[in-house]
Amino acid sequence: MKALVLSGGKGTRLRPLTFTLAKQLIPVANRPILGYVLDQVRDAGIAEVGVIIAQETGNYVKDYVKDGSDWRMRVDYILQEPLGLAHAVKQARPFLGGSPFVMCLGDNLQGRGISNLVRRFEEEKLDCLILLKEVPDPQRFGIAVLDSGGRVTKLVEKPKEPPTNLAVVGTYLFSPKVHLAVDRIKPSWRNELEITDAIQEMINMGFRVKAEVLDSWWLDTGKKDDILTANQIVLDEYVRRDVRGNVEESTVEGRVIVSEGASVKGSRVRGPCVIGRAASIEGSFIGPYTSIGDSAQVVNSAIENSILMAGASVKDVERMEDSLLGRSARVSKNGRSHSVKANVGDFSEIEV
Ligand code: TTP
Repeated sequence: MKALVLSGGKGTRLRPLTFTLAKQLIPVANRPILGYVLDQVRDAGIAEVGVIIAQETGNYVKDYVKDGSDWRMRVDYILQEPLGLAHAVKQARPFLGGSPFVMCLGDNLQGRGISNLVRRFEEEKLDCLILLKEVPDPQRFGIAVLDSGGRVTKLVEKPKEPPTNLAVVGTYLFSPKVHLAVDRIKPSWRNELEITDAIQEMINMGFRVKAEVLDSWWLDTGKKDDILTANQIVLDEYVRRDVRGNVEESTVEGRVIVSEGASVKGSRVRGPCVIGRAASIEGSFIGPYTSIGDSAQVVNSAIENSILMAGASVKDVERMEDSLLGRSARVSKNGRSHSVKANVGDFSEIEV
């Protein structure tokens, strides 16, 4: 079993962050989401991994994953123009050879890992096993219809009248028969080779396509609000109290990580939250669900439910919430003035 991890794509919905960073590297609880995805691949005992990268952001991904040895895996990089998930499978064919594989999206994470899926796929000798999640708004997703034996009979993309509320989420297992299906499909209206079309083709060709319904959380970090939700869930799930940095005249309540070299002075920190290496918090309140990146600075401010990436700074801001600040971004209040002075790059958003 090999793994194909998709870390290419355009990331248009996350501009401006994705001008200078791959979206799979946006930190959630101070760690790129891709890191958690690779953890799940490693935990399933898979050691040969192909990572799909795009021209614009591929080097950022390579700088983070390197040769994969941090995860005890061997990584091959596969350059791909973002022409769809099934196109990525096609592009990866030399790497995949005749091997079955699990395909994961580098910006999606789910609470159950993939070990059990791999086991079931092998035991039942399936050609395709997909993961589904019940969603309240099935119109926005690819939706699956199942028969009583758990076999997938049909997939419909963003249906106006959804036949079920079971959305296809970003983990797929395939036998090499998927390549036969990929060769038969045509690009969709958005000019992409869609993986749902390839799976539908596998069903049409009579291959064994089954599904498992996920009974845990699933995160797709495609937009700002989704990243903040991911940050909440990952902080809830993974953070245990661990105070290593310097804490002076402050209260640190609950599940909080204060990393080495960080300094918290005259402040109140309420978990779950994480404060990165060499970050500095002074005279401030850091509320639940906040991730403060390495070397970030917060002075005389209150922040809640937000992500400050490495080197970002917030000064004299009475209250900041639900915010995502990129690396070395700066937000400050200018004296008593209520006017806003901004130096903001393309596609940024400010709500005052
Ligand atoms: P999407 O979020 O569907 O696509 P995108 O990255 O182009 O995003 P946007 O709509 O904001 O422009 O992709 C899901 C994941 O798959 C994501 O991690 C990027 C990756 N991907 C590829 O590696 N190759 C591709 O051709 C596509 C479409 C996505």
